[in-house]
Amino acid sequence: MASEGVFVHQFPLGPWDNFLYFIGDAATRTCAVVDPAWDARTILDEAARLDLRIEHILCTHSHFDHVDQVDPLLAEIDAQVHMLAEEVDFSGFTCENLVRHRPGDTLSIGSHAEITMMHTPGHTPGSVSYRLRDAIVTGDTLFVQGCGRCDFVGGDPEVMYRTLRRLLDELPLDTIIYPGHDYGPTPTSTLTMELDGNPYLAKPTLDSFVSHRMEGKTPGSALPRRPDWTPPGRS
Ligand SMILES: [Fe+2]
Repeated sequence: MASEGVFVHQFPLGPWDNFLYFIGDAATRTCAVVDPAWDARTILDEAARLDLRIEHILCTHSHFDHVDQVDPLLAEIDAQVHMLAEEVDFSGFTCENLVRHRPGDTLSIGSHAEITMMHTPGHTPGSVSYRLRDAIVTGDTLFVQGCGRCDFVGGDPEVMYRTLRRLLDELPLDTIIYPGHDYGPTPTSTLTMELDGNPYLAKPTLDSFVSHRMEGKTPGSALPRRPDWTPPGRS
């Protein structure tokens, strides 16, 4: 990301192709980690390699593949944990230093990075996307050439449809998309590129979107359990 004074660092982790992010302030090397999951040691090693200090933990939503390393991280570092109050209440998520947020809340990191919390429900009721200048970290809302599933408990395809329309209405089309999973042909995208190739944004009506998104799916499904997984190189 080229925006002066701030950075977005993307890295993949885990068997489900998650993308994690460090977003923050270049001058002070302070940052937030977005969606810490799968292996705290890898996350801390990556921060050390980049000479970054993690002061905040941002959760796009409560699914374990986005939050299951919050507690292991808090055992090693002192950080505030951020989630929308609606997601906390929906999921029962709990941890130390948890800050319950409302849509539109902002968070400053260092002297340059101001993050805005945009409520983007549909995958879960309290899913949030984190905006930083011309970038947005979208969790399991918008993927490159895809969008998050709406059949898990708390998901709602009609709500997702409206969320995706709102992203298009409210954000500049050159906004850079940083998704929560590496499911597309490229690791990042822009709204312009997604308008061109994302079948979920191209669906013209609510009904056609819902039938496409829910095809072969059962509403109210349980999220799969965490598979056994050991980071490569660790036994
Ligand atoms: Fe999810």
